Amino acid sequence: MYRTHHCGELRASHINQKVTLSGWVQKFRDKGFVAWVDLRDRYGITQLVFDADRTDKELMKSARNLGREFVVQVSGTVIERASKNPNIDTGDIEILVESLTLLNSAKVPPFTIEDDTDGGEELRMKYRYLDIRRNPVKNNLIFRHKVAQEVRNYLSSIEFIEVETPYLIKSTPEGARDFVVPSRMNEGQFYALPQSPQTFKQLLMVGGMDKYFQIVKCFRDEDLRADRQPEFTQIDCEMTFVEQEDILNTFEGLTKHLIKEINGVELSEFPRMTFDEAMKRYGNDKPDIRFGMEFGELNDVAQHKDFKVFNTADLVVGIAIPGGNSYSRKEIDKLIDWVKRPQIGALGMVYVRCNEDGTYKSSVDKFYDQNDLANWAEKTGANSGDLICVLSGQTSKVRAQLSALRMELAERLGLRNPKEFAPLWVTDFPLLEWDEDTQRYHAMHHPFTAPKPEDIKLLDTDPGAVKANAYDLVLNGNEIGGGSIRIHDKETQALMFNHLGFTEEEAKAQFGFLMNAFEYGAPPHGGIAFGLDRLVAILGGQETIRDFIAFPKNNSGRDVMIDAPAPIANDQLDELGLKTK
Ligand code: AMO
Repeated sequence: MYRTHHCGELRASHINQKVTLSGWVQKFRDKGFVAWVDLRDRYGITQLVFDADRTDKELMKSARNLGREFVVQVSGTVIERASKNPNIDTGDIEILVESLTLLNSAKVPPFTIEDDTDGGEELRMKYRYLDIRRNPVKNNLIFRHKVAQEVRNYLSSIEFIEVETPYLIKSTPEGARDFVVPSRMNEGQFYALPQSPQTFKQLLMVGGMDKYFQIVKCFRDEDLRADRQPEFTQIDCEMTFVEQEDILNTFEGLTKHLIKEINGVELSEFPRMTFDEAMKRYGNDKPDIRFGMEFGELNDVAQHKDFKVFNTADLVVGIAIPGGNSYSRKEIDKLIDWVKRPQIGALGMVYVRCNEDGTYKSSVDKFYDQNDLANWAEKTGANSGDLICVLSGQTSKVRAQLSALRMELAERLGLRNPKEFAPLWVTDFPLLEWDEDTQRYHAMHHPFTAPKPEDIKLLDTDPGAVKANAYDLVLNGNEIGGGSIRIHDKETQALMFNHLGFTEEEAKAQFGFLMNAFEYGAPPHGGIAFGLDRLVAILGGQETIRDFIAFPKNNSGRDVMIDAPAPIANDQLDELGLKTK
């Protein structure tokens, strides 16, 4: 038997017991006549003691040969520590070692296995198995397990069934590129890995499963960011005989349950906002509503003077930065440089200082008087002591720019408290989105999303104005879930494909199976998918999902530990019919 207890288990009540522990050598301290080893496993650290008076010479010698991260088994007696360590659970005791077995030695690790390590990100990724020994990573994985467990408990308790769907499938469009897998037995043909199980979960509804969920890997070949990985996990859900309201209520229930169980926070009813309202008030379809700084549209009060920049803009819009009047000229210039960076892309920024005495001082005083500026202050909700920042230009661009500035300033002002949870349902998304590159409409969510019935008539005349029965769940400014009520009849689905530029043949070739299924009694249905990695990261008070994934990819989509992707041998290419001549 390798162990009788683990390294986080022994307490004062175990004193005088004979025990056996196994683990890794975290630290070795040698005072000559006495030496200590911190022995670590997943559960904690237990101090081992070797003492010249009580430990035999050979054993003392073996202890001195131990190096960092050696794997050992020790047996001995639990004794009371002379100087207790209140910082660890086992701090009252230590093990007076009577025998020591070296189970494996270890090379010196390339970075220290401690909470604050000296290892850079790339190095830690390369040796991820060592990184996982560190508390922050280990605890994140345990945290993720708890969230997944709670998801399963909750959904099972309300009659959802977890069903697995295949990974080797045909393209399911979710707006990214597919990863494809060549088929040896069907030369020249490819499977696509699912960007989501979307079509399968709909087929499960046609199959009468009623309430489905799955904690499932999804694959998307897209550019990576802190909140995106090429393979990530969804809590994918679908329900039959439901309207939008049923879905929102069910998954508001799940989210509340998780935040209560995991974070001990009880949330009241989630606010809701339409997409249009979110864009107007926050310039963003996933607003962080933990703080204010709402947009004030200034067209009415800024476009009547001789300031050409504003007069020619589609939208003039500002936000008030609380306490921003204290910024020096230099700090404001830096802010202007920040919005002018190519990543943000603003051409410039107008600002107004709101003085304590109720007067205003702006960078455009030549064009606007105190009355005008007082109007701006009113529209942006600025108080004395604030700084109003104003951008102008093409509506969608300027909203994105000001939204980026709002988030940046909130971060700098410490308004994004990770312990606070501000959920928000965003509803009534547009069905279609114009794509400049391809000069055609794309499904904003995916092509299976139902248009609002009252808007179907607009599909031919004003497709961009058609709203969908689609919704996102936003948490602290992150999109943690999205879904929709689906089309469940063949005609509407065909109409949708047609508006997305598919010919009848193309639609049949790609999605014939779904259209066929719709002819065999497809019930009304709808669903949602949460990004588990994102949800876990946010509940854990962070936004980088990599830290909550055991073996993540780096920013170029590589696994630097196993060195993938990698070329494959010629004969393998040959077998797959992929060999280049
Ligand atoms: P959607 O594409 O909105 O919807 O995805 C659902 C949720 O998955 C998460 N997510 C990601 N997380 C990490 N890395 C990525 N690359 C990534 N892409 C998406 C987000 C997102 O909200 N089939 C539909 C759902 C439905 O309609 O029911 C779908 O996949 O948190």
